[in-house]
Amino acid sequence: MNLFNVYPINDIEPVRAQGVWLWDNHGQQYLDLYGGHAVISVGHCHPHYVQKLTQQLQKLNFYSNSVRIPLQDELAQQLGELSGYPDWALFLCNSGAEANENALKLASFHNGRRKVVAFTKAFHGRTAGAVAVTDNPSIVAPVNAKDHVTFLPFNDVAAVEQHITDDVCAVIVEGIQGVGGIQVASEAFLRAIRRKCDQTGAVFILDSVQCGYGRSGQFFSHQHYADLHPDLLTTAKGMGNGFPIGGVLISPQFTAKHGMLGTTFGGNHLACAAAIAVLEIMKQENLIENAAQVGNYLLQNIAEMGGYRELRGRGLMIGIEYDFAVDNLRNKLLFEHKIFTGVAGKNTIRLLPSLALTTAEADIFLEALAKEVQVLA
Ligand SMILES: Cc1ncc(COP(=O)(O)O)c(C=O)c1O
Repeated sequence: MNLFNVYPINDIEPVRAQGVWLWDNHGQQYLDLYGGHAVISVGHCHPHYVQKLTQQLQKLNFYSNSVRIPLQDELAQQLGELSGYPDWALFLCNSGAEANENALKLASFHNGRRKVVAFTKAFHGRTAGAVAVTDNPSIVAPVNAKDHVTFLPFNDVAAVEQHITDDVCAVIVEGIQGVGGIQVASEAFLRAIRRKCDQTGAVFILDSVQCGYGRSGQFFSHQHYADLHPDLLTTAKGMGNGFPIGGVLISPQFTAKHGMLGTTFGGNHLACAAAIAVLEIMKQENLIENAAQVGNYLLQNIAEMGGYRELRGRGLMIGIEYDFAVDNLRNKLLFEHKIFTGVAGKNTIRLLPSLALTTAEADIFLEALAKEVQVLA
């Protein structure tokens, strides 16, 4: 049997990793500023993470949600504390798409409505409900009907004022668009969504799958704006540092009913052990603060370097948009300088490294970028 060929891949085979470093099958070392697409939050193979998962693997690997799983309570407790949402509830699932899928269902169960407002260039995942609110026709199959979705221009306050009406079920938005090219949701935009949702009874869903879990220099990126809260928050990626886990953080106004949501694998013992280890490391090593500091260091130095059209982002979620297509630049960084980066669209280099990146490691990238940008400019 062959693999179903859906991924364009780089001809590199990583076999080992530590911190922000990867090694391929030929022993070649790479600096990882892509983090396997924003997934590696506390660093590859962190000793505490490895120990916690190993211990759990030796005790109990899996049992379904039909029994008590105290690890879930421990995770919810720690997540509530570190994220600043101690009185919210947590529903555990396995991925970002599933988190958004369940958030949309919860919103619809809550107010009985169907219409959803989403935004241009949004990416919310590939399951039916999530892909319907994703602004990319090429990944939407005919079966994923979209007639209930209105796409408004991102960061457009006037459009929000006009289109969030009494028949809207939910508004779903990324705090910082990732696939859309690291576009930061403005304070006025998010406050307008909050105000309109309050007026109309629509549910405000903040997709924090990519921009959450400390990446922006706050636990969630909207927390850069004081006293602004959505009704539902979705998370995944950095939550398990590579172990598949996602979650919906649910404000107290929602009432749980047996059977309304469910999953076989969501919240399993291994996933919880991984996610607890991530939170413990984040706390112990002040990784949110580090993401803010090293992110600022990168942003300042890239700004001084110049040569780009626009520099965007917060913390360790950075987009550098150039006037030229960046495939060549990305390939040079990867194959000549041995540095993994991401891209968004044709013109933007995307940085999504581990939150434990140091300034010395950032310097390696800055030096390589300066050299290549000089050549390409
Ligand atoms: C903002 C956002 N939401 C949702 C998803 C989907 O997450 P997953 O691939 O874990 O389903 C992604 C993935 O890139 C994302 O960036």
